[in-house]
Amino acid sequence: MAKTRRTYFCQNCGFESAKWLGKCPSCSQWNTFIEEVVEKGGTKVPDWRTEKSGTLRASKAAAIHSIVYKEELRIETPDQELNRVLGGGIVPGSLVLIGGEPGIGKSTLMLQLALTLPKLKVLYVSGEESEQQIKMRAERIDQSSKASCYILTETATKNIFKQIEQIAPELVIIDSIQTLHSAHIDSSPGSVSQVRECTAELLRYAKESGTPVFIIGHITKEGSIAGPKVLEHMVDTVLQFEGDRHHVYRILRAVKNRFGSSSELGIYEMQGAGLREVSNPSEILLSQRESSLSGIAIAAMLEGVRPMLIEVQALVSTSAYGTPQRSTTGFEAKRMNMLLAVLEKRFGFRLSIQDVFLNIAGGLRVEDPAIDLAVLMAIISSQQDIPLPSTVVFAGEVGLSGEIRAINRIEQRIAEADKLGFETIYVSKYNIKGLDLNRFKIKIVALSKVEELFQQLFG
Ligand code: TYD
Ligand code: MG
Repeated sequence: MAKTRRTYFCQNCGFESAKWLGKCPSCSQWNTFIEEVVEKGGTKVPDWRTEKSGTLRASKAAAIHSIVYKEELRIETPDQELNRVLGGGIVPGSLVLIGGEPGIGKSTLMLQLALTLPKLKVLYVSGEESEQQIKMRAERIDQSSKASCYILTETATKNIFKQIEQIAPELVIIDSIQTLHSAHIDSSPGSVSQVRECTAELLRYAKESGTPVFIIGHITKEGSIAGPKVLEHMVDTVLQFEGDRHHVYRILRAVKNRFGSSSELGIYEMQGAGLREVSNPSEILLSQRESSLSGIAIAAMLEGVRPMLIEVQALVSTSAYGTPQRSTTGFEAKRMNMLLAVLEKRFGFRLSIQDVFLNIAGGLRVEDPAIDLAVLMAIISSQQDIPLPSTVVFAGEVGLSGEIRAINRIEQRIAEADKLGFETIYVSKYNIKGLDLNRFKIKIVALSKVEELFQQLFG
């Protein structure tokens, strides 16, 4: 009988420790260590190969020039947004993780993919819903589907691989990784060691059979995939499905992609009959805005590695009291005071006798200095009561002498603004060196001083 070994895993990042720790040395989270039982022993024989041949097939080293691959091998799906996010279609043998909060539409997206791929045999493995439930959902999405899609409700990896051998699918979807369990590990489904082992087995299967595998993974409130970073570096591609559950729009982002750019995003609308691709996203953002209001500016910010556009709102009004009020939501108050001082000193705006309120729409907290320029423009727009054009975006840090400074990942920000249908983006002159401006549809205006921006926008 195999001996068991007990170790402690950080449930946040997967850090392994022989003893319990209060604080994780890897991700600095508190109280995240849980004891898990791991089977002792060296390398495990993966299920799906033992079922087949009973022996391990060893890989041989090959000279790099003798390795051939065909570029056109990608499988194009009927879903253009998904194709784009994946970098031009599904790569055979790739392992793709789709993360998202519960109820956001991950199962819907994957089932829709399974039902709309007419030429491929797809195996949809669900550990969360019954066959009837999936059938009901499938009828909602596409009643006339001719796809050869197989549904398997199973959670043991051993049985899943048995079915895979029988059916020989050309695409496998796992819903979700947190429900799977492998017989090699004793701990419960959803624990770090189980999630890691099951993913490793799927990875071996994908790589050796050349079958692409999509794995659905739930995300915890903090935004990480549960059993989390462990998974992110094992898979080839990490996609995140996000959005407000109470709104109809969903965004699919590539967080990591070994086969394409990680700055791509796809937008969907959740309808009664599944997800609809939104090919012209500006329809969402722009239609929600009152174009003729002063005090509003759009900034291209980054959250982690993810670019997004946010609305900065400012209200400047005459102070009723001796001491003017300064209040910010989602933006550092000290930083706003600095920007106000720059406006006062360099450009002569008499803001010291006025109340200034600043708000980042959507309840976000922004620390990215790149939104300085939008903050500045929102404040001036409100003070002068002149609305800014609703099609412009700002991305730049502002220095103490009123210079527009360079920011990181400018290309991603421009690409996001471009994708979302904006017409002009104002950036720093020092930011565009070596940038291929013709790549983008959006007009890129590069300036070095805030004065020049005033002149261009307010005359
Ligand atoms: P689901 O795919 O189950 O989310 P996840 O797998 O990420 O947990 O989607 C759940 C929501 O989507 C649910 O609230 C109902 C809604 N929905 C629609 O609005 N239209 C549809 O056609 C389908 C299938 C679901
Ligand atoms: Mg689901």
